[in-house]
Amino acid sequence: MTTNAGPAPSTSAPSSPPPDAARRSRGRVVLDAIDERLGISALEYPVPGHANNLAWSLGGITAASLGILIVTGILLVQFYSPVPEAANASVRHIVTDVWGGRFVRGVHFWAAQAMYVTALLHLGRVFVTGSYKRPREGNYLVGVAMLGLVTLAIFTGTVLKWDQEGFEALGHNIEIGNLLGGVGSWFSPQFADQVPILVRLYAAHTVIVPGLIIVLAVLHGLLVKKHKISPHPALPTDASGTQAPTEEPTAPFTHHLRRIAAFGVALFGIIGILAVLLPPGVGAPSVEGIEITRPPWMFWWVFTLENWVGLAGILWGELAFFAILVALPFIDRSPQRLWRKRPVVIIGGVLLVAIVAVLTILMAVTPAKQHLGM
Ligand code: HEM
Repeated sequence: MTTNAGPAPSTSAPSSPPPDAARRSRGRVVLDAIDERLGISALEYPVPGHANNLAWSLGGITAASLGILIVTGILLVQFYSPVPEAANASVRHIVTDVWGGRFVRGVHFWAAQAMYVTALLHLGRVFVTGSYKRPREGNYLVGVAMLGLVTLAIFTGTVLKWDQEGFEALGHNIEIGNLLGGVGSWFSPQFADQVPILVRLYAAHTVIVPGLIIVLAVLHGLLVKKHKISPHPALPTDASGTQAPTEEPTAPFTHHLRRIAAFGVALFGIIGILAVLLPPGVGAPSVEGIEITRPPWMFWWVFTLENWVGLAGILWGELAFFAILVALPFIDRSPQRLWRKRPVVIIGGVLLVAIVAVLTILMAVTPAKQHLGM
């Protein structure tokens, strides 16, 4: 008679882990080894859930545009010549003869537009959520400085193609430098007799301005880490309007980085499509003494001021805009961050945006006028 004494004891050796698990654990070993040396797991610190919203990811998306600009910029400098006699022809050479050159130039152009737009939207989010308030005023000013540098990068980039538009932009640059007196002497062709001003603007566009942006972006990121991302303004406040530390659910910062990477890939896709469908043009070499082009759209609003009051309008318009941005955290010092409870500041911001928009539209419908004393 046989009895069922349960399954027979196994005589085989202990079973080896399934190949998937082995692969995973080998991957884990490699990651752990890298982490031990580079401390990557320190990036897993918790950030509040709202930091993953699109509006709170705009700074990261701006940083993604910066990355695209640096890579495409490095490719472009291999073929661009900043020598005045060759500059315009070298841009044509890039788009017609260099393999992939038209696409790379297009991506560089559209990434610059994207960076400008996303930096403004990011500034808009910081403004609406009152994130420029204590203790983040210093980091806000770092942001204002970066916006100024991004504007400068777009301006210097426009000059580099050395066509009529670039030449007229330089003409404005030189005359505004004159208006600034001694401070503006760097912008004058006489500043360095032996080096053409185009070469100096090329150095500014490729080294000085991006170098400063990178240094400030690192500082900006370190200060975001130090102060932590601002709490959502809708979270409760005490009677003085100050937000107590809250128990908002958190996620590791590495999740946020993954989301930014995904946004960055999507942005690159859109920029790539624009680069193929709407590549930036390059005009014929410049003709002195005429003024027929419009500047890039981000400068249109100050050019309407120029039409009204002359070249000084560009200088005073830009200075007033940046002075308002710099003054904001010193004027609005209450701890209240919810937009509904800050009607005066919010109306002021809406008015500023409306003025810039109306001036921009006026430029779009006005033919270019002669201002330069060339
Ligand atoms: C131009 C390039 C810029 C880059 C690459 C950048 C990047 C970032 C990033 C990654 C963050 C983290 C949160 C987020 O994405 O919203 C951040 C936060 C912040 N940024 Fe920027 N930013 C730029 C420009 C600006 C500008 C123009 C301003 C304001 C004038 C500004 C002010 C701030 C402030 C105050 C914070 C802290 C916000 C908070 O804690 O809620 N940034 N920035």
